[in-house]
This record gives sequence, C-alpha cells and structure tokens, in this order.
Amino acid sequence: MSGAPGPAPLAFATRGLARAYGTTHALVGLDLAVPQGVVYGFLGPNGAGKTTTIRCLLGLIRPDAGTMELFGEPYTARDRHRLEQVGSLVESPAFYPYLSGRDNLRVIGSTGAAPARGRVEEVLELVGLRDRAGDRVGGYSMGMRQRLGIAAALLSDPRLLVLDEPANGLDPAGIVAMRETLRYLAAQGKTVFVSSHILPEVQQLADVVGIIDHGRLVRQGRLDEMLRETGHVRVRVLSADAGPAREALERLAGRDAVWEAAGQGDGDGWITVRVEPSRAGEVNRVLAQAGIYATGLDSGSDLESLFLSLTGNA
Ligand SMILES: Nc1ncnc2c1ncn2[C@@H]1O[C@H](COP(=O)(O)OP(=O)(O)OP(=O)(O)O)[C@@H](O)[C@H]1O
Ligand SMILES: [Mg+2]
Repeated sequence: MSGAPGPAPLAFATRGLARAYGTTHALVGLDLAVPQGVVYGFLGPNGAGKTTTIRCLLGLIRPDAGTMELFGEPYTARDRHRLEQVGSLVESPAFYPYLSGRDNLRVIGSTGAAPARGRVEEVLELVGLRDRAGDRVGGYSMGMRQRLGIAAALLSDPRLLVLDEPANGLDPAGIVAMRETLRYLAAQGKTVFVSSHILPEVQQLADVVGIIDHGRLVRQGRLDEMLRETGHVRVRVLSADAGPAREALERLAGRDAVWEAAGQGDGDGWITVRVEPSRAGEVNRVLAQAGIYATGLDSGSDLESLFLSLTGNA
C-alpha cells in the first residue's frame, strides 16, 4: 500500500546533461523535470540548446555526460525501443511529395505499431487537415506540412509528444488550432513538451515552463506562479508628482520594486510597481492618500520581461 502521494511523476527528466559539438558546449549540465500530463514550454534564445536537448531525448545524438529518465526509469541511447511511447516533430519532417497527406500517414502508420493504422483519419481531423488530406504533399504550404508533421507525431498515440518549434510556418489561425489540439491532448493525460520562441504563445499554452540559456536551466516552474511574480501595475502621474508618488509606492512595495519611465514630454510620466495586478486598487489608494491623482493606470504580467531578465537579453 502506498502512503502519502509522492512527488508528481515525471514524463522526462535530465540530470547534469552535457553535450558539446567540437568546441561548442551546447549543454553544460542541464537539469530538467517535465511532469506528466502537462504542456511544458521549453524556452530559450537561439542557440540555447533546446534542439540539442530534444535530440538527446530522441536518441539522435548521445550526451557526453549526465543522465536521463523517461517515465520515471533511467533511459539511455540503448533504450531506443522505449521511444514507441514518444511522438516527435523535430525540424522539417520528410514526406513523399507525390503522395497525398493521407497516404503519407498511411505509409508511416503501416511501419509502426498496429494502432497507428486505424488513427489516420482521427489525427488528420485533430490537426485540421482533413479537407486537404487527398492532395499531394508536394503542393502543401509550409504550414500544411507542419500540421502533417504533427499528425504523424500523433499517429502512434504517444504518451509523450515532443515538438521542436511547432508553430514554425503556421498562420495565426493555425497557431490557435494547434494550441487547442495540444491543450486537448494534455487534458487526456498526455505530456506535451514543446520548444518555442514565441513567448505570448507559450504564455497561453503552457502549464509549466523551463527557460534554458547557454546550455543550462535558468528557471523552471509553473507558469501561473512565474506570472504572479512578474506582475506589475503602472501609474501615470504629473511630473511634478513623480517624486512623492515614487516615495509612496516604495513604502508600499519596497525600493527595488518601483521604477520610473522617462516622460514623453507632455508633463506626465509612468511609474511601474512590481506587485500583483490584483493590487492595482491598493496602488491607487496609496497615491490618493499622498494627495496624488493618477492620470492613467494599467496592469499586467508577462513572460517576456521575465525571459529577458533571466537570459540577459534585456
Ligand atoms: N550539428 C552541430 N554542429 C555544431 N554545432 C552545433 C550543431 N548543432 C547545434 N550546434 C551548436 O550548439 C548550440 C546549441 O544549439 P541548439 O540547436 O541546441 O540551440 P536551440 O536552442 O535549438 O536554438 P534555436 O532557437 O536557434 O533553434 C549552438 O551554439 C549551436 O551553434
Ligand atoms: Mg532549435
């Protein structure tokens, strides 16, 4: 009998993962923990090591050092048969251009496990490609190929779906549709590991986020917690009021949590306070008590500012 619930089971984890290409150290001791049943957004600037991590997971390259776990068990390049449980899309997938999208999936399905064959229509529907499934892939747009790649990754009904920059080439409607598909899969208990550059997109999609820079994890956690931390309220005040307003807000939130943007020359300036957006009313009250009336107020929180501050690209 098991007692209290242990830590959430992980779909994929790495410990000290390292990989160099010649003298380029792509990964230098990466510790990742991807919980099961979530959409995990894997973020990092160009060259941070995202694709390298995914290649190690998929057995396309061998790490130089460190360990990996797949569904809670040690996993090495020798255990490639366990990739049956993993569907993936890395770089542009290769298809037969003279076959239709549907026939390409049939070919891929015929080489895989038995359930894959019966799933062609279902995955075409999931990625919104049914109307064009009879057309030759040679005539597909980049976004349609990308959708077909995601369909192919889903064919074997994998427990873990690994997508490297899947939004590449998708139009806004395609991005919305993909987000719905990935959310739907996570709701069914699948794990979706997705790398991306598009921060607002990840902000709308992911449950958990890992930020990587120079081959090392710089932050990992639940997205809602990170956003709470990056929340801010901005107030606009007459420049004559800026000094006293700043002092009042520093008393509320602390010195380091308040900063001023230069005015636009119209006599007003914006002051930003790092507090949860739900505290906007409190910010306003503090100003009013100091006899200052804000001429503008807004609030929000965003992943972009956190990302830029953590990856040193601000
Ligand atoms: N085949 C290769 N040969 C040499 N260097 C490589 C190779 N693949 C990747 N690198 C280097 O390893 C580092 C990490 O690259 P990687 O492709 O993993 O980054 P990434 O996070 O996927 O970047 P991007 O956002 O641009 O896709 C980079 O410095 C890159 O130049
Ligand atoms: Mg990459």
